[in-house]
Amino acid sequence: MKSTRIVLASRPTGTPEPENFRTETVELPAPGEGEALLETLYLSLDPYMRGRMSDAPSYSPPVAIGGTMVGATVSRVLESRDAAVRSGDIVLGYGGWQTHSVEPIRQLRRLDPAAAPVTTALGVLGMPGFTAYSGLLTIGRPKSGETVVVAAATGPVGSAVGQIAKIQGARAVGIAGGPQKVALLRERFGFDAAIDHRAPDFADQLAAATPDGIDVYFENVGGAVLDAVLPRLNEYARIPVCGLIAGYNATALPEGPDRLGLLMGMILRKSLTVRGFIQREFAAEQFPAFVEQMPQWLADGRVRYLEDVVEGFDHTVEAFQGLLVGKNVGKLVVHVAD
Ligand SMILES: NC(=O)c1ccc[n+]([C@@H]2O[C@H](COP(=O)([O-])OP(=O)(O)OC[C@H]3O[C@@H](n4cnc5c(N)ncnc54)[C@H](OP(=O)(O)O)[C@@H]3O)[C@@H](O)[C@H]2O)c1
Repeated sequence: MKSTRIVLASRPTGTPEPENFRTETVELPAPGEGEALLETLYLSLDPYMRGRMSDAPSYSPPVAIGGTMVGATVSRVLESRDAAVRSGDIVLGYGGWQTHSVEPIRQLRRLDPAAAPVTTALGVLGMPGFTAYSGLLTIGRPKSGETVVVAAATGPVGSAVGQIAKIQGARAVGIAGGPQKVALLRERFGFDAAIDHRAPDFADQLAAATPDGIDVYFENVGGAVLDAVLPRLNEYARIPVCGLIAGYNATALPEGPDRLGLLMGMILRKSLTVRGFIQREFAAEQFPAFVEQMPQWLADGRVRYLEDVVEGFDHTVEAFQGLLVGKNVGKLVVHVAD
């Protein structure tokens, strides 16, 4: 079996460019004992992949130069060497940016296509949905009547954060880029207020949308959004630091005076809780509850989701470039095969 794969040819400086990648076709080994041969149907594209392209210090090792780009997939089992999965099963795998893969069966999760569209395993019912669930409920701990603010709010993490906040009785304020996404925040996801971070008066709009201040800021982006949020934070506000996508392509720290002292002063004065997390820290304890709860919220319409499906493996790099600048509308997946 041959696999076409996208490998990291060089480490990007700033925006990843097509020349940072190389497409190769390789012969796969036959699956050994405990392994399965998989055909990728859908490939998940996620912001963390930008970190894997860099060799800067991180919570996970970088992809090696010449290595296949990592990523979760929804795949079909073509051949199995273990009774746990059978040929024809649809599974969640981690083969990365390639059309076929051989993977250890113990790291696969069987999916039931009758229970939910299989792509949801990459979004609302998978890692991004769990990130929202665990980060918001464990660190953000929104209470009834409090105000929760989240950016990248039409994405799989942000949209789930806003809707789970509402389920907890909080007021949800969503931030997104452009009028189309802002309309989605209100109409599809039920945010109480929706703001465009590209609007020239964004900080004023945020102030108007948060008359009682901000109790939970679920940090997905950093940059100018964080600047506008900081003065609105209430005493004892909680800030789950989930992602800082505004800076993922940055090659240097922003110019300007050092404002670290100001930030620390605010953390002290307002008794803020600022807590970074990587979702896998909560997986062992909370994933079972999440896989019980989230499908129920989907079934009763309290949580909705949105997917952006790009057609064709050849468009993977271009789609990933777009993710970092907000061209995706909803959870970004590449449709590789039927
Ligand atoms: N800690 C963890 O375990 C964990 C797990 C999963 C994801 N994350 C993080 O969660 C965040 C959201 O991930 P996702 O998968 O849901 O992605 P996503 O929302 O589908 O895509 C990223 C979005 O970020 C927004 N964005 C990009 N540059 C921005 C900027 N300069 N200012 C404001 N917004 C900007 C864009 O939306 P707009 O067009 O609306 O601006 C873009 O669509 C990312 O930071 C990601 O790294 C963390």
